[in-house]
Amino acid sequence: MKLLAVFVLAVGIISGLASAQEIYDDVEINVTAIEYSDVYDDDFPLVGYVSVPNTDGPVPAVVIIPDFTNVDDYEKVRATMIAEDFGWIGFAADIFGPEFQGDPLERDIARSQAGIYRSNTTLFAGRIQAAIDIMRAHPLVDASRVAIIGYCFGGTGVLTHSFLGGTGIVGAVSFHGGLTDFPVSTPIMHPVLVLSGGEDDTGTEVEYLESQLNDANATWQITRYSGIEHAFTVWHDDRYNERADHRSWWEMATFLAEGFGEISYGTPQPNQTDATAVEYDDDGFSLTGWLAVPPGASPSDPLPAVVIVPDWDGVSGEDGYESARATLLAGEGYIALAADIYGSDFQQVEDFDTRVQQTTIYRSNYTLFVSRIQAAVDVLVNHELVDADNIFMIGYCFGGTGAVNYAFSGLRDVKAVVPFHGGLTSLAPIQTDNIFPYVLVQSGGEDDAHGNNTELEMALNSANATWEISRYSNVFHGFTAWGGRAYNELADWRSWDAMLEVFDWILLQDDDESFPPESSVDEPTTIVAAMENPDADP
Ligand SMILES: *[C@@H]1O[C@H](CO)[C@@H](O)[C@H](O)[C@H]1NC(C)=O
Ligand SMILES: *[C@@H]1O[C@H](CO)[C@@H](O)[C@H](O)[C@H]1NC(C)=O
Ligand SMILES: *[C@@H]1O[C@H](CO)[C@@H](O)[C@H](O)[C@H]1NC(C)=O
Ligand SMILES: *[C@@H]1O[C@H](CO)[C@@H](O)[C@H](O)[C@H]1NC(C)=O
Ligand SMILES: *[C@@H]1O[C@H](CO)[C@@H](O)[C@H](O)[C@H]1NC(C)=O
Ligand SMILES: *[C@@H]1O[C@H](CO)[C@@H](O)[C@H](O)[C@H]1NC(C)=O
Ligand SMILES: *[C@@H]1O[C@H](CO)[C@@H](O)[C@H](O)[C@H]1NC(C)=O
Repeated sequence: MKLLAVFVLAVGIISGLASAQEIYDDVEINVTAIEYSDVYDDDFPLVGYVSVPNTDGPVPAVVIIPDFTNVDDYEKVRATMIAEDFGWIGFAADIFGPEFQGDPLERDIARSQAGIYRSNTTLFAGRIQAAIDIMRAHPLVDASRVAIIGYCFGGTGVLTHSFLGGTGIVGAVSFHGGLTDFPVSTPIMHPVLVLSGGEDDTGTEVEYLESQLNDANATWQITRYSGIEHAFTVWHDDRYNERADHRSWWEMATFLAEGFGEISYGTPQPNQTDATAVEYDDDGFSLTGWLAVPPGASPSDPLPAVVIVPDWDGVSGEDGYESARATLLAGEGYIALAADIYGSDFQQVEDFDTRVQQTTIYRSNYTLFVSRIQAAVDVLVNHELVDADNIFMIGYCFGGTGAVNYAFSGLRDVKAVVPFHGGLTSLAPIQTDNIFPYVLVQSGGEDDAHGNNTELEMALNSANATWEISRYSNVFHGFTAWGGRAYNELADWRSWDAMLEVFDWILLQDDDESFPPESSVDEPTTIVAAMENPDADP
């Protein structure tokens, strides 16, 4: 966890707070050219650019597959960021050959060159393999820890390479890669992370990609960002989006650090819980929640807080699941309240029929469900230790549904809602066209209770929500329940980590007036709109 903290800080400084232009200008390109050749043709020269941190090695390496203008300053900056931020070797690969490098390459030439590789995927995958092989042979590289990432055209390349059986890597990351009909012939042996703009790929295209990845037996994670178009990481492009750039760079960093064995995911289950009962009420209906407070909290320095909406067995008392999660959050510096929904008489409900009866009451009366949740929010709003401007909400299963219902109700007292395997098939009617909280959905790729992802996105879009949705392969309902049948260590860890990072990122936004950061593609970010778009794919 220590290592992770350093890591968060580095990512935050590099890509969290600065504007796109600042990031780009702040990174002084620090690369050296490396000559190598194609895997199919020794006489076909290639020139890539390596950025080496101050190290005696061996260290992991990240191969960067360029967008359709081939390798240029954009990829060299990314290579330098890899070296500076993480201490890994960054390598900006050449696909078209040194004859076709410029800053930027003329668009017509870029288009015709890209066409060659799009239509001959064997050739494209071979060029990517050549870059991987040259890094694996580099004296400072640990050959067992090499990964690839790709942008736009290069993102398509990364997926193509995986589907064609490319080897020698521990992970592949696609940033706004074009999704096409990939061939499914061999199993994909390394994990794949796909980072996708919600307005770039359609929900059904992503559903199709999931099915292709499943057919190839891949371990995958797909994360999508609302209101985000193609080229969202490309500085100087008017479709650049700071939020999606920051969040996706972070998602990549965690994914690669796992692949490189620098951080291990594991169960965060605390050995013992530390939560105390809080009696409150919802319009006279008695409730008992469980509150965890970080040591040393004081009214002179109020802390951000988290409401935890429980799963269908109700809030589970002093030693139960929600109190354990509250304890973990207190360990991260949050005041955390495990909310009561069913009432003081129905804590830790063991009986199946009672569970069904209780959930039915709230599933069939959204007003009541949201009102019970708001009662818990109010406890925090009025708590002397809580910074009432920075309250978040998470929910598990039934409670995840509740958290999304809270967002749909139009209430504005929390800055993020995070459903973990929420049942998203029985959502409340949408009562706002301006959802306030950031909606971070964490769900299992095999979770039927999750419902139709495309339709969830449509519902969130119609309410102008700023959302981020992650899905994990081979993960079923209840994946965060320690000891449960569906428990999945990887998804539990990554989803918890994504939640903490989103909270951190929201706390870093210094301007509460402009929260959430953007809600609709109809108001494009204009940070660098006046400049050319040399790098993005058409
Ligand atoms: C940049 O280049 C210099 C000189 O080659 C090298 O000593 C240094 O470690 C590099 N720094 C980074 C962060 O890549
Ligand atoms: C694709 O590229 C490979 C490798 O260079 C080559 O062997 C093959 O003939 C090409 N296929 C087509 C249809 O041009
Ligand atoms: C995936 O695994 C299944 C079951 O083991 C197997 O039948 C199938 O051939 C595999 N798919 C690929 C592309 O290897
Ligand atoms: C929890 O228990 C494990 C195994 O008994 C121990 O190694 C670990 O240090 C404990 N953690 C804490 C935070 O007490
Ligand atoms: C839903 O709950 C609210 C608040 O308790 C109550 O006023 C309303 O009558 C309930 N609606 C239905 C249909 O039972
Ligand atoms: C929601 O989005 C629509 C379409 O972009 C827009 O017309 C409407 O004004 C937005 N509503 C709010 C409250 O932002
Ligand atoms: C999900 O919903 C979309 C839009 O209604 C539809 O096109 C798609 O086929 C649905 N997917 C599944 C798996 O039912």
